[in-house]
Amino acid sequence: MTISREAAPPPAPPGGRPAATLRSRVAEMAERKRAASEGPGPHATRQQHAKGKLTARERLEVLLDPGSFREIEGMRRHRATGFGMERKRPDGDGVICGWGAIDGRRVFVYAHDFRVFGGSLGEAHAAKIHKVMDLAEQTGAPLIGLNDGAGARIQEGVVGLAGYGGIFRRAVRSSGVIPQISVMLGPCAGGAAYSPALTDFVFMVRRTSQMFVTGPDVVATVTGEEITHEELGGADVHASRSGVATFVHDDEATCLAEVRYLVGLLPANNQEFPPPVRSGDPADRPCTGLLDLVPDNPRHAYDMHRVIEEIVDDGDFFEFHEGWAANVVCGLGRIDGRVAGIVANQPMVLAGVLDIGAAEKAARFVQTCDAFNIPLVTLVDVPGFLPGTAQEHEGIIRHGAKLLHAYCAATVPRVQVILRKAYGGAYIVMDSRSIGADLSFAWPGNEIAVMGAEGAVNVLYRREIAASDCPELTRLERIEEYRDTLMHPYHAVELGLVDDVIHPESTRAVLADALAVLHTKRAALPHRKHPNPPF
Ligand code: HXC
Repeated sequence: MTISREAAPPPAPPGGRPAATLRSRVAEMAERKRAASEGPGPHATRQQHAKGKLTARERLEVLLDPGSFREIEGMRRHRATGFGMERKRPDGDGVICGWGAIDGRRVFVYAHDFRVFGGSLGEAHAAKIHKVMDLAEQTGAPLIGLNDGAGARIQEGVVGLAGYGGIFRRAVRSSGVIPQISVMLGPCAGGAAYSPALTDFVFMVRRTSQMFVTGPDVVATVTGEEITHEELGGADVHASRSGVATFVHDDEATCLAEVRYLVGLLPANNQEFPPPVRSGDPADRPCTGLLDLVPDNPRHAYDMHRVIEEIVDDGDFFEFHEGWAANVVCGLGRIDGRVAGIVANQPMVLAGVLDIGAAEKAARFVQTCDAFNIPLVTLVDVPGFLPGTAQEHEGIIRHGAKLLHAYCAATVPRVQVILRKAYGGAYIVMDSRSIGADLSFAWPGNEIAVMGAEGAVNVLYRREIAASDCPELTRLERIEEYRDTLMHPYHAVELGLVDDVIHPESTRAVLADALAVLHTKRAALPHRKHPNPPF
């Protein structure tokens, strides 16, 4: 008897279909997966493309390394009844979940499929997102959500709301453990707007993505106000007014490429350091442009971006919240290969004062860097806090305290460089040694004081100047005296509040050395459940 290596198919039962083999099951599975991956069909895809949007699967192809995506729960379906839902049970339930790689490093992803129930979230859709959120946290890898959804699925009622509750709870649990990145790629309402607000980074695309708690139709019904999607919650609104969007781009491809770039600057989780990348830019490269960039006169403006570009590797600076609270500049750059979080006053905008927006923006940034082991470099040229009724009544004390709290609580390496003026409380808040900076350096033109000389003399010598035969001369003499006594460039260093006065051209070299020394810094905070920051 000969035994064939090809197993013969089992005989068909009398009068019935041929029994399935593993091969036929494999073919069946492939067909089901192919159909599932196509989604609702070419018409829906054309509609998505007509809005200038990629489909969820196309987005994943752009975001992830080629061939790296592994989908899970691609055939999960809802079990809702009523509203005709029994007849419409698409595989995947409007969200694609799984993991893949960015530059070879693992990330977990979910991507709403707007073509299915408007990307809205029901029970099954939520459970799929919960699953990847749990996997990301438990394995210590970043989570990226590609959001293009209408919020809670109306037909499923309260289970959709509960599904969002599960997302919110997980986002907070993972906060500060793994980087969580939200990419907004369509109209996102309700929970689809709230859940990104709990994450670390929010990307938006002009004209195609919007975020609002309630959409324009509801706004019109409730308030009578007629407003477009874009006016209510478009990318520019959230990038310049509300501060919800961290990054804004003109198209999806650029946006997704920038997400990849950001991931390359972050550690996989809070137990790791960001990956170092040496660029060939020498650590001791003199910053020859800096001497001419910063004017002597503290009233004259200059662009702090140019200073940062001189200092960081190859001039590459990844700015956060570029269009919001632009009087402070925050972003990531590398110095001798190591990622650093840079916080800097911007003399070009409102003379670089700290106000409510600047304090909030910088506080969040400092907190984010501290959570992910990114050392902080603070470049100071600050005239003080913005005075005025509006700021006081809107709570500059409370909001300014957020920045103070964030710095004081930060245990990552912290280096301060005082470029020019550093006055009053704003000097202390901008990571002075007294609130815990590990090292502080100042350029020789520094003016560190309670306030500028003119202001100080007006307070201290107002009567004397008024009574003087020659008030202007008296005023100038007193200003000179104040400068010589309390504001000269070596005053703070003599008192041990600054570690050294440095040549501006050596700023990059000094910072590279400081960050190398501080890389192994250890710092512990007292045991407690959690601090109670002034949110
Ligand atoms: C189910 C929905 C849906 C929803 C839209 N669709 N919203 N299906 N549940 N919430 C469906 C539409 O019926 C349509 O189906 C398809 O999705 C596309 O919707 P359109 O309105 O045609 O698209 P567009 O004009 O681009 O407008 C998108 C939108 C708008 C701005 C998102 O649809 C909208 O305002 N939807 C309601 C948003 C909302 O209020 N969500 C609930 C939030 S409450 P067809 O079959 O016609 O293609 C919430 C609470 C969470 O999320 C908890 C927070 C604390």
